[in-house]
Amino acid sequence: MVNALHTAFGDHHARAVHTKGVMLEGTFNPAPEARTVTKEPIFAGDSLPVIARFSLFAGVPDLPDNADGASPAGFAVKIKAPDGDDFDIECNQHNGFITATFDEFAAFLRAVGASGPGVPHPTPVETFVGSRPGVKAFLDSRTYPASYAQATYFGINALKFTNARGESVYVRYRMVPRAKEHYLTPAERKAQSGSYLQDELAQRVAKEPVVFDWYVQIAGKGDKVEDPSIPWPDSRKLVKLGTFTLSRPPADPETAQRQLLFLPGQPHPGVEAADPMLIMRNTAYPISFGQRQ
Ligand code: HEM
Repeated sequence: MVNALHTAFGDHHARAVHTKGVMLEGTFNPAPEARTVTKEPIFAGDSLPVIARFSLFAGVPDLPDNADGASPAGFAVKIKAPDGDDFDIECNQHNGFITATFDEFAAFLRAVGASGPGVPHPTPVETFVGSRPGVKAFLDSRTYPASYAQATYFGINALKFTNARGESVYVRYRMVPRAKEHYLTPAERKAQSGSYLQDELAQRVAKEPVVFDWYVQIAGKGDKVEDPSIPWPDSRKLVKLGTFTLSRPPADPETAQRQLLFLPGQPHPGVEAADPMLIMRNTAYPISFGQRQ
């Protein structure tokens, strides 16, 4: 998979995807309702330190923030638990993944890689997209935020949460911005600079913290746990897990970005991966991390 990402984007000795990003530090405050759905200890105590990274989608280090490949943008957060455990969350700002499975995503990336300049039409990626209406709908419906702080971000891959009474539910994460959603029209996006997202975030956080409320969406009857390309209905219940307050950049952003590894499928008490894609992602991320050291 990591090689397939390099085939599509090039190997830049950096993150294989979501390569250009910006970090903030802050705190996490748990919400009392979280304990109704999980027994994980981070929801039972006081506020905890966090480190977060916002990123453009594509695996290209110098990608302009207003390029097509910037969306869906990513938002990843690491909560540092008192016992030394890391609780990692990774989301992006499209409700649903481009493909249903890990292998189909690899096939898409290889098709992108085989469709460079001079390749006759239909190119492999045109054939791939043309034969899959879901992939085309995903690509055509991407949105571009005015600010990293003004998009809703989705966890997409389902987890199984278990509370202290032993009751389990299937969930997907959702990060809701206190600054409200704001997406650009195509003309507005074109008029932005190639660094508008990172510049805006730096200016914003110098004045006030960036705040997100973290929820889980609870699966209902018939909702698929193992197909991240299908969003669950909006009518499904949301339970608040807590709030992130991000207030400052790290002291040494370059070193911090290199040393940062998120493991989104890592099990915790009362929290385990349910979507097989999440388990596979958990094995791919350390490979990319190792290659970029
Ligand atoms: C088959 C599916 C996927 C694969 C193979 C994959 C693979 C990767 C890899 C290799 C990295 C770079 C890791 C590193 O060098 O530290 C990465 C980063 C990232 N991925 Fe995924 N990913 C997948 C799906 C997803 C999904 C569904 C989401 C969102 C829900 C997501 C969000 C992110 C984010 C936000 C980052 C940047 C992390 C950071 O800031 O360090 N990915 N992904």
